[in-house]
Amino acid sequence: MYTNMVSGPIFLIENPSLLGNVMQKIQIDSESETVIERSDYPPEKIRQIMANEIVAVLGYGVQGRGQSLNMKDNGVNVIIGQRENSKSWDLAVKDGWVPGKTLFPMEEAAAKGTIIQYLLSDAGQKEQWPKLLPHLTKGKALYFSHGFSIVYKDQTHVIPPADIDVILVAPKGSGTSVRRLFLEGKGINSSYAIFQDATGKAYDRARSLGIAIGSGYLFETTFQKEVFSDLTGERGVLMGAIYGLWLAQYEVLRANGHSASESFNETVEEATQSLYPLIAENGMDWMYANCSTTAQRGALDWFKKFHDASKPVFEELYRSVADGSETRRTLESNSHPDYRKNLEVELKEIADSEMWRAGAAVRALRPERANDKK
Ligand SMILES: NC(=O)c1ccc[n+]([C@@H]2O[C@H](COP(=O)([O-])OP(=O)(O)OC[C@H]3O[C@@H](n4cnc5c(N)ncnc54)[C@H](OP(=O)(O)O)[C@@H]3O)[C@@H](O)[C@H]2O)c1
Repeated sequence: MYTNMVSGPIFLIENPSLLGNVMQKIQIDSESETVIERSDYPPEKIRQIMANEIVAVLGYGVQGRGQSLNMKDNGVNVIIGQRENSKSWDLAVKDGWVPGKTLFPMEEAAAKGTIIQYLLSDAGQKEQWPKLLPHLTKGKALYFSHGFSIVYKDQTHVIPPADIDVILVAPKGSGTSVRRLFLEGKGINSSYAIFQDATGKAYDRARSLGIAIGSGYLFETTFQKEVFSDLTGERGVLMGAIYGLWLAQYEVLRANGHSASESFNETVEEATQSLYPLIAENGMDWMYANCSTTAQRGALDWFKKFHDASKPVFEELYRSVADGSETRRTLESNSHPDYRKNLEVELKEIADSEMWRAGAAVRALRPERANDKK
């Protein structure tokens, strides 16, 4: 049965005690969290903390690209480590990184860096670890954007030496948004965590890098909580569950004689174009209070049923994350030599499905896109 688990007010209050700075605190009932904002790490402070650091970003994928370009714009001394003869290397050159100066093969960059940002894909991190390990010398910092490699060490064998810092900053969104929002003067929220503080500098290193990569604000977590919540979120409401729900509703509408465009509009287009931006701005509580009374009655009655039906699935998902099954599946599938080929077959099936062909047709009709074609 549905029960309302979280209630009570949330306040933003100031906490003058931390590091002598005035930092924001979020208070939700009896729980309070300190939040690090850009004003806590202004550009001069970042440059001061980073003055003697060389940040080597290993991997020029979506995160490596977004984070490194933002850090460079924030005055951090950044170099890139990327395997040569690859599309990512070519993209780095196109973005202005200079081979032999600011762009190097991975091991060369790792040798030069004092902070190593390990931003290969998670399967790539496991594979390249033996080559990275000799470069993790005393006093350096190893930085992740996911708790994956460290938390599932039994499967990844990523076990850092004790005399280095091990830190994490995990943007809560795509690397593409990390760059795009930064250029728009906005920022993505990130979590940060310290796994090892060997030098006494780990907190300052993590927080200043967190702001330098373009985060709007940072909230503290642990490596384990980051990876458990992240794997649950992307398999759940962010990607897996939402698509499952959309597809189920689309199929039911189609089976009952609704046109493809009507079914897609009622399932996806209205959600993403109208409701989600309003929910982002004001919350679902506001949305419920500001829709038609007909929609309101229906949503109030039916959300409990969907909650009760999906909660056991979320519980199963969380167990599968916590016991390492999801990691095993990810590593096995992503390390397979045919990984790309098999993935493309699965992705093509979705892209070719009626629902997303209908989606492409409906999106093309948006007035701003229709005008583009004229
Ligand atoms: N994607 C996101 O938006 C997101 C969000 C938050 C956190 N994260 C985390 O950020 C980290 C980086 O993720 P990402 O999505 O940016 O990765 P990605 O786009 O998949 O980037 C892959 C990078 O890793 C390199 N790479 C992959 N396998 C390799 C191997 N076996 N040997 C050497 N290099 C290899 C790729 O080089 P090639 O181009 O040469 O293959 C590329 O530079 C991960 O820990 C991820 O969980 C990602």
